[in-house]
Amino acid sequence: MDVKIKDLSLAYGDVAAVDHLSLDIADGESLVLLGQSGCGKTSTMRCVAGLEDPDAGSITIGGRPVFDADSGVDVAPNKRNVGLVFQSYAVWPHMTVIENVSFPLKMKRRARKEIRTRALETLELVGLAHLADKGASLLSGGQMQRVALARSLAMEPNVMLLDEPLSNLDARLREDLRVELRRLQLELGLTSIYVTHDQGEALALADRIAIMQDGRIAQLATPVDTYRSPASASIAQFLGVANIFRIAAPEPGARRLRLADHDLEVVVDAPVAAGTGEASVCVRPEHVRLTTEPAAGPNTWPGTVLVSVFQGSFARATVALDAGPTLEVQTAEDVATALRQHDRVHVGIDPRDVQVLPQEVGGAGAAPARPVAADTPDDGGPAHDRPMAAHAATASREA
Ligand SMILES: Nc1ncnc2c1ncn2[C@@H]1O[C@H](COP(=O)(O)OP(=O)(O)OP(=O)(O)O)[C@@H](O)[C@H]1O
Ligand SMILES: [Mg+2]
Repeated sequence: MDVKIKDLSLAYGDVAAVDHLSLDIADGESLVLLGQSGCGKTSTMRCVAGLEDPDAGSITIGGRPVFDADSGVDVAPNKRNVGLVFQSYAVWPHMTVIENVSFPLKMKRRARKEIRTRALETLELVGLAHLADKGASLLSGGQMQRVALARSLAMEPNVMLLDEPLSNLDARLREDLRVELRRLQLELGLTSIYVTHDQGEALALADRIAIMQDGRIAQLATPVDTYRSPASASIAQFLGVANIFRIAAPEPGARRLRLADHDLEVVVDAPVAAGTGEASVCVRPEHVRLTTEPAAGPNTWPGTVLVSVFQGSFARATVALDAGPTLEVQTAEDVATALRQHDRVHVGIDPRDVQVLPQEVGGAGAAPARPVAADTPDDGGPAHDRPMAAHAATASREA
């Protein structure tokens, strides 16, 4: 069922945890709330679940008002039919797996036979049917989290609310369960709100990502658009864009932008829009080329390797440019691994990979240097669609 949140505010004392937040989630949509610790993700979820008493605004689920500050509507949590899964494994250790999953159905006074069938079906969905009669305290963390998920799913909730359900699990299991959750969500057509501060999880699980900052939604977009076109430098930084440099207020139409703190000019592809004030140039580490020979073209600079680290399928290097700034570079695994500290290198950045972003959303607005809509197939395709190999560095192994 769809969820409509309108102008919702919730304060704890003088902390505005949720600040005039509006958000529509479509029926069957997976919406991910992504943001830094303390930005108000859990508070927003608790309002939807009915566990908080918001100061203002309204919430409807499937068209039915469950909260409205003006008219005084406030439906009790257990009457909202929302499924909750939290970070801690909230399973009852003294019950078996199937007793845990059956519990909400018993509360709803379903027939005994129906309860068992439904509980087993749900356990099948999360891959735990073979453990139905095992004591819940004997399960691993990942299994317990699946039980918690099955218990919520068994009640056929109108909306699933998941608050960092995977954050207590180890990396491998987290990735497996992430894929499984996405499959379930699509298969069951579940409407869900999923909270995380892990961008990989958000990109994998969302139909749309709502980036929260200070109790508000700073950007609402598909995973692809969020990744390609962050709305501000602070969002870009949160999303792992490691190279962010403030620029001196640029002239409208300028394509050469001077960094505010270094004697260096960066060439951008699209002319800077009029009205661009305080802004930064932003470049993803995977868009920086690394070579041992001087490279031709704009945005090529010499520098020295400070450190390079092996990361498995890729490598990261930190390069101090002679002109002052330090760049984070992501390369093919064999390139940066071959580099030593103090090696001399050259970096290059395609002007199409430089984004000019305002410091904050709602700040003096800078247009992105490369709006997504401006990508046309005949210019060789969007720079970000090029395979990683095209950005891979070409430094030789002898470096
Ligand atoms: N019960 C409470 N009493 C007082 N302040 C609270 C309470 N719960 C949350 N806050 C404050 O409200 C703000 C939002 O908290 P919230 O738990 O919603 O953040 P979050 O985005 O879920 O963070 P995290 O990623 O750390 O879980 C924070 O500043 C927090 O300190
Ligand atoms: Mg939280």
